[in-house]
Amino acid sequence: MKLIKSKDYAEMCQKAARIFAAQVTLKPASVLGLATGSTPVGMYQELVKKYDEGKVDFSAVRTVNLDEYVGLSGDNDQSYRYFMNHNLFDHINIDKANTHVPSGLAADLEAECADYEAVVASMGGVDIQLLGIGNNGHIGFNEPCDCFPVTTHPVDLTESTITANARFFATMDEVPKKAITMGIGTIMKAKKIVLMANGKGKAQIIYDTIFGPVTPQVPASVLQLHPDVLVFVDEEAYSVIAEKCTPEQLATIL
Ligand code: PGA
Repeated sequence: MKLIKSKDYAEMCQKAARIFAAQVTLKPASVLGLATGSTPVGMYQELVKKYDEGKVDFSAVRTVNLDEYVGLSGDNDQSYRYFMNHNLFDHINIDKANTHVPSGLAADLEAECADYEAVVASMGGVDIQLLGIGNNGHIGFNEPCDCFPVTTHPVDLTESTITANARFFATMDEVPKKAITMGIGTIMKAKKIVLMANGKGKAQIIYDTIFGPVTPQVPASVLQLHPDVLVFVDEEAYSVIAEKCTPEQLATIL
């Protein structure tokens, strides 16, 4: 894993966007694995800016998203399909038919998961996968548990995730309790992975992810086993690493 430090969120987003723009420039028909949440919003804004300036062409790009809430349609402004349209797809020249988000309304969730896994495979896998990280170490909605789930699957969200998500909903009853998520195996098959984290609240989990034991109790720790991971952090998310790591440990990631 390589760590890329930035002084603040804006700089972190600019740096991460450069990686995605370079990927699309080098391979116009790239498969981008995309993520939702507050962390990547600034990175998507940077990509839109690069598109507006004529620096990136998304016309041949295909995308797969990590996850979606069960029970929300793509028109619901809290769904991840809506988020992607609103934050990125509506503002660039991507063909929406080439953008994939699991369907939260599928009657048969297991069949939807198998279909989604087949979609990812049919595209030849993901060239570069963007990840945020939950305070509990989840990636996608792979929550802490006793084993690493391999493929796309339905998941019961943990209390901590439901509580973290509640800020976006009017009442607790409206907060989805289930989701569909790519599995850890699906994520790990990506050729390259970009993890972004900002703010004090992520500092401990970023430390655990990079320097803690590889354990499904900290799902993101599995990334230690991937050969090509870039971790983008701002000063605050870096703070526990700065405090706890020896120069020798730092030398392994910087
Ligand atoms: P956040 O969520 O970007 O809103 O902090 C990250 C995540 O839960 O994966």
